[in-house]
Amino acid sequence: MKEIDENKTAWGLLSRDHYEHFKIALTRNKTVLSNLIQKELGDINGKTILHLQCNTGADTISLARMGATVTGIDLVPDNIMYANKLAAELNIKNVKFIEEDLMEMDLSKYNDKYDIVFTSEGVLCWLPDLQKWADIIGHFLKDDGLFYLNDSHPFFMMLNENILKNNELKIKYPYFKKEAENDEWIGGYAAEPKRAKNHGWMYTIGEILNSLMRAGLYVENFNEYDTLFFQLNGMIKNSNGEWHYPFFTEKMPFQFSLKARILKK
Ligand SMILES: C[S@@+](CC[C@H](N)C(=O)[O-])C[C@H]1O[C@@H](n2cnc3c(N)ncnc32)[C@H](O)[C@@H]1O
Repeated sequence: MKEIDENKTAWGLLSRDHYEHFKIALTRNKTVLSNLIQKELGDINGKTILHLQCNTGADTISLARMGATVTGIDLVPDNIMYANKLAAELNIKNVKFIEEDLMEMDLSKYNDKYDIVFTSEGVLCWLPDLQKWADIIGHFLKDDGLFYLNDSHPFFMMLNENILKNNELKIKYPYFKKEAENDEWIGGYAAEPKRAKNHGWMYTIGEILNSLMRAGLYVENFNEYDTLFFQLNGMIKNSNGEWHYPFFTEKMPFQFSLKARILKK
């Protein structure tokens, strides 16, 4: 698919910068996971985890440092190369990384089952087929296994991000739009933005929940927050380390997280 090929190239331009950024972060600190994610995940010591869209492995390594054995999957060859390099340099043994396009993944090749499937912070918008994604989660979870997702809230995803700092709300990305949004720039959260064509898709809350339920999961928790996991222009950090606009506090959601379990067969 042309859009996925362009996304692969675009993400590949960021791989080296992300590796360098996260190497410094993981040398200074034990984890790059937000306090919110760590709290919601709870004790994962001894668990097996499949980490979808693992980028250059920083979150994967953070999960491994909490005592889990973690397999990361990502689309981009350089992300996998740098993830392996980062794990080796930080002497992390309980991780491995697989290069796969989730949208083309042949599930018959994989028989392993996991206690937890984990994915977070900027993931759903890169996937053109959410049912395929949910079926992957269902395939890899053990009976009663846990799925954990944290991502930008669809309500916030609709809005013009450039004028939020002025306390203005204007819809820029239609909530029900099915075609991809095309962009010329990528990155910015752990690397300088790079000019490269890339494509993202919008999902409604209903589509997210329905895809998981159709894949045989039941949703235990759907939490919404007035904070975000990255800094938009004008945002400040709250005492929990989350980014927010004080004038939107308690007024609108910026991120959500979800826990679901596979129904016992
Ligand atoms: C915003 S990053 C995820 C960041 C995440 N917090 C992390 O570092 O673990 C999104 C990731 O999705 C990956 N990605 C995009 N499309 C994908 C696909 N079709 N299959 C697998 N990975 C994909 C990109 O390569 C990128 O690493």
